Amino acid sequence: MTEARPLYKDLIKPVEERVEDLLKRMTLEEKVGQMCQYSVHPGAVKEFTHLLEKGLVGSFLNLLGAENVNEVQRIAVEKSRLGIPLLMGFDVIHGYKTIFPIPLAMASSWDPEVVKKACEVAAREASADGVKWTFAPMLDIARDPRWGRIAEGFGEDPYLASVMAWAAVKGFQGEELSPNPDKIAACAKHYVAYGGAEGGRDYNTVDISERTLREIYMQPFKSAVAAGVATVMSAFNDLCGIPASANEFTIRKVLKGEWGFQGFVVSDWNSVGELIVHGIARDGAEAARLGVTSGVDMDMVGDVYRRYLVELVRKGVVPEKLVDDAVRRILTVKFKLGLFENPYADPEKAKKVIKCREHLDAALEVARKCIVLVKNEGVLPFKKSLKRVAVIGPLADDKESMLGCWRGFGDPADSVTVLEGVRKKLGSEAKVLYAKGCDVKSQDRSGFEEAVRVAADADAVILVVGESWDMSGEAASRAYLDLPGVQEELVKTVYEAAAGRKIPVVMVVMSGRPLTIKRPAEYVPAILVAWHLGVRAGDAVADVVFGDFNPGGKLPVTWPKTVGQVPIYYNHKMTGRPPSSERFTSKYIDEDWRPLFPFGHGLSYTSFEYSDLNVKPEVVEPGSVVQISFTLTNTGGVEGDEVAQLYVRDVSASVTRPVKELKGFKRVTLKPGEKKRIVFNLPTELLAFYDREMNYFVEAGDYEVMIGSSSEDIRLKGRFTITRSEKVTDLRKVWFTETQVY
Ligand code: BGC
Repeated sequence: MTEARPLYKDLIKPVEERVEDLLKRMTLEEKVGQMCQYSVHPGAVKEFTHLLEKGLVGSFLNLLGAENVNEVQRIAVEKSRLGIPLLMGFDVIHGYKTIFPIPLAMASSWDPEVVKKACEVAAREASADGVKWTFAPMLDIARDPRWGRIAEGFGEDPYLASVMAWAAVKGFQGEELSPNPDKIAACAKHYVAYGGAEGGRDYNTVDISERTLREIYMQPFKSAVAAGVATVMSAFNDLCGIPASANEFTIRKVLKGEWGFQGFVVSDWNSVGELIVHGIARDGAEAARLGVTSGVDMDMVGDVYRRYLVELVRKGVVPEKLVDDAVRRILTVKFKLGLFENPYADPEKAKKVIKCREHLDAALEVARKCIVLVKNEGVLPFKKSLKRVAVIGPLADDKESMLGCWRGFGDPADSVTVLEGVRKKLGSEAKVLYAKGCDVKSQDRSGFEEAVRVAADADAVILVVGESWDMSGEAASRAYLDLPGVQEELVKTVYEAAAGRKIPVVMVVMSGRPLTIKRPAEYVPAILVAWHLGVRAGDAVADVVFGDFNPGGKLPVTWPKTVGQVPIYYNHKMTGRPPSSERFTSKYIDEDWRPLFPFGHGLSYTSFEYSDLNVKPEVVEPGSVVQISFTLTNTGGVEGDEVAQLYVRDVSASVTRPVKELKGFKRVTLKPGEKKRIVFNLPTELLAFYDREMNYFVEAGDYEVMIGSSSEDIRLKGRFTITRSEKVTDLRKVWFTETQVY
């Protein structure tokens, strides 16, 4: 007798029941099939038909376009025995086709709504095209700008990155994972400590203490899990002798155990297969065993699960309950996304939604908020009445580089360059002159002469320099962090030509990381850090340069003077001999110990005053909230945004603590003369750290409060005391709901 309609297909049954019903019907081969993911391009679909028909594929990545997705989905849903839909994944990192600023730039907005908005748009476009899962957000803390993947994350600070992680997850997934056609599943990656690569060399070994692992590198992941992230990706790196994709401690004990993560873990690209290369697995079978026992539920591309897992279970080497647990997690995500009911994409919707006006406008709005004005000696904004403006530099008209690394399905033809943006802004009234000057990376100086001629002929010069799109992101580590090629010479040559004639110059730096621009920063009077800003880059830069938008971004990373200073980060320890003018202190004999620009730095066309700090109460019990308030006033002549930052220092503790830690921030817009009372509600749990016994504790003692415009520009100071020490068990509830930051 055949069953009319299996329970797992019954929409009104709870997801858990549907999962259990389906799991019971699956053969071991089909279960392992769900744990396999392959990369496929439209032309190569045929190679997978036999696996699809047998129900032996759980997910594909890189298959794009609603029609292509529907074609393979149809085989899985209509031809396989149980009709389990595929989960289609893709790296939708900062936009799908409407490309937004790179994540490091979005972190510079210090505005979680910015990140949320960008992820919402990306999700709507990707989902319309059949992509229901993104490998984002990337939550690797990066303290070393040599590492090219610093571009993909939210910078160096665990708190800022945690707030952004939360916003990204909510933006992609919505309040919770659901069949919403505008939402997709997110993936917190790369778990964990991938950003700690030695020497900043991608894929390199990471060897850090458990305290640093938990307090710095794990924090944003913890936040993503608390926000309900559906999946987590295990990283490539070796972590203190145990690769992240074979790490029972980080995956099973911490992620799935301590944090109660209910979603599934996908490996990074063949990171389970690479356990052989790491030298901890003799062969594919051993790699598969290590992957599955450590808690990696899905094997991305490596194919070791398909080849070995069934046999490992049959031989009793891998308990079937581990496979069941993995499959349960994967199916749960598929059910929650509504894939069983709506497995297909709607090509008509895709046409309407992708790159629609609303999305392109959102990309501009976001891009403007990401620009950081790091230096301005009365030069900016330029007047729109200027008659002749020179736009110079290898990135001034480079459509491709505006999109940055991991550009999704973005098309360089869509991007607005700075040259185009300035032309649009000034219209036919002004003459916009252009010279490339040199290529990004080459040693050729033959274009300098024209650049000088163009600069000398202008009323103002906009120099656009930095890195091309392919110089950051994966496998793009750099040993030198200067402006590549002969760009620094170009800057100097053009600057000298202009300065001799009193022509103002602004340097716009476009890059995927901080660059060591110490020398140009000494003489160029105005510098904008624009990162790679996405499709509307040129419009955003033109708005800022000509004062239609007052820049309010702040650096989410410390900006070094020279590569020899890295790793460099603001929340460092005091040491027993903090740097000073004394000889035997922690510093360099040939370079300053301080960065070029500190974490949190960013200027505005207006000025802000901080006053009337109030810390209440000054003596607190653990488990309560300290209210820190002050008045922020726009004391300049134009409306502007300020990111007020709250730092706290534990003055004396059982283990050494950072000199300061960001514990709150708020981006506020104020009209000239306007005042606002800013309030940070700081739950004492946010001050917890791992003590000597590795217990998570809020310790009794004195805490210094610092309110500032950057980590170095502290304007107000206060203090409070916590009466007694207390263990903290659940940070989730307090972190985001009670602080007023988010
Ligand atoms: C990267 C991941 C990415 C994956 C799939 C890997 O090489 O490390 O970040 O999600 O490829 O494209």
